[in-house]
Amino acid sequence: MQLTQKETSLLKDLKEQEQICVEKYKKYSMEANDEQLKNLFTQIGKTEQNHLDIINQILNGTVPEMQSGGNQQTQLSFTPTYTAGDTTSPNKQKDSYLCTDLLSTEKHVSTTYNTCIFEFRDTKIRDILNHIQKEEQKHGEQIYKYMEQNGMYN
Ligand SMILES: [Fe+2]
Ligand SMILES: [Fe+2]
Repeated sequence: MQLTQKETSLLKDLKEQEQICVEKYKKYSMEANDEQLKNLFTQIGKTEQNHLDIINQILNGTVPEMQSGGNQQTQLSFTPTYTAGDTTSPNKQKDSYLCTDLLSTEKHVSTTYNTCIFEFRDTKIRDILNHIQKEEQKHGEQIYKYMEQNGMYN
C-alpha cells in the first residue's frame, strides 16, 4: 500500500501522540494513589500500545485486519474511593490532576484522528482510524465516569 507524503506525515503525528499516551498511562498508573484508578490507567495503557502498533503497521505499508471488538471490557462503574465534598485530601487532589490531564490528552488525540480521517484515500485505513478514534472517546468516557463517581467534578 502506497502512502502519499501527506498521509505519511499525518501518521507520524499520530504515532508521536500514541507514544505519549503509552508513556503517560504507564507513568500515571504508578503515580495514582487509588487502586481502581491504577487499574483503569493500566487497562487503557494496553489499548494505547495496541493503537501504536496499528499506526506503525500502516506506516510500514500494511493495512492491519481489525479484530472486531468485544474483547475490550469497558469498566464504567466504579466504587467511589473519595468522598464528594472532600477537596483537602492530597491523594485525591493528585489523582484528580492525573485524570484531568489524561482527559485533555484524550480530547486532543481524538480531534487529531478526526482531522486525519478526512485526508486518507483508502477506505480501510479510514475505518481503522475511525475505530481507534472511537476507543479514544471511550477512554475519555471511562475517565470522566471515574471522576464523576469520585466527586472530582465541580
Ligand atoms: Fe490511542
Ligand atoms: Fe486513548
